[in-house]
Amino acid sequence: MKERILRMLMGAERYVSGQQLSETLGITRSAVWKHIKALREAGYAIESKTSAGYRLVHKPQGLNREELAIAIHGISEIFEKIVYLESAGSTNQVAKQMADRVSALIVADEQTAGRGRLGREWESESGQGIYMTFKLHPELLPVEAVHLTQLTALAVVRGLERCCGITLKIKWPNDVVHQGRKVAGILTEMTTEIERIEMLLIGIGVNVHQGHFDGELTGKATSLDMIQPEAVFDRIELIAAIVVAFETLYNEFLRDRSLMSVHQELNERSSLVGREIETVRGKERLRYRAVAIDESGQLVVEDARGRRETLLFGEVSVRGVSGYGE
Ligand code: BTN
Repeated sequence: MKERILRMLMGAERYVSGQQLSETLGITRSAVWKHIKALREAGYAIESKTSAGYRLVHKPQGLNREELAIAIHGISEIFEKIVYLESAGSTNQVAKQMADRVSALIVADEQTAGRGRLGREWESESGQGIYMTFKLHPELLPVEAVHLTQLTALAVVRGLERCCGITLKIKWPNDVVHQGRKVAGILTEMTTEIERIEMLLIGIGVNVHQGHFDGELTGKATSLDMIQPEAVFDRIELIAAIVVAFETLYNEFLRDRSLMSVHQELNERSSLVGREIETVRGKERLRYRAVAIDESGQLVVEDARGRRETLLFGEVSVRGVSGYGE
């Protein structure tokens, strides 16, 4: 109910009377008052005038449950449930513990045990980034779902470009980079039966407000604030833009069950295609030139003798570059 009151106040240019709120929402005037009080406690400045009603004058900065729900319910056809947590161990972990088969978006303001691929840590300080998981139950074969990592990377690129006007690339298969530095990463996990996906979790981390990166990340990671210091980024808007971009791609994928419709874009936006790369197999470091991403989403590589191979997944680095390729 709080959300509906907030939505009405956000959509109004002038005061909204207590009577209008109570009639539209079918609740008493004193219930309206209680919800207004709760919104004020949550940081919303709401002016009240005896003869006119209520007017929203200031919204709290940062993420909050009410606005997230308003933003996502307004645009999403997929996510039936939205979970917002001020703090979580890891949003992927929270999703795993949900026993239902309902598609959900889980967002946290902070993660105390944020995880990246290959068991790495994912820096997840409060208020600094986007830490979210898409929990999905698609009617796909497990082998088909592998493609959703790349599709999500593309959704992050499309969403952030649309919101921020920044040109980003995908470091195959699941990193989003700006001029060779990582802005976002994706961790996909699945629980399956042999031919059926029980639960698909797509964890997305986006660096938004971080001012610097230390240690191993020095020179390798960046944030939207570091890319565009003069801009003001609203994480709820960014999340909504990524969700919109994802849903378009996801629906196309469920229909076509292939990457055909985005194959060209994946190549154009690749930070690896055309570059000398290195990958590790067992104890060996292998050198190739990245030729293309093929129609099944695999990376086609060529060795010094001109022999071609395809990589389905793996850690790839651009030779001679400490970051992630342009
Ligand atoms: C990577 O690039 O290694 C993947 C990073 C994925 C980070 C996100 S943040 C939300 C979700 N919860 C996690 O613990 N990890 C993913």
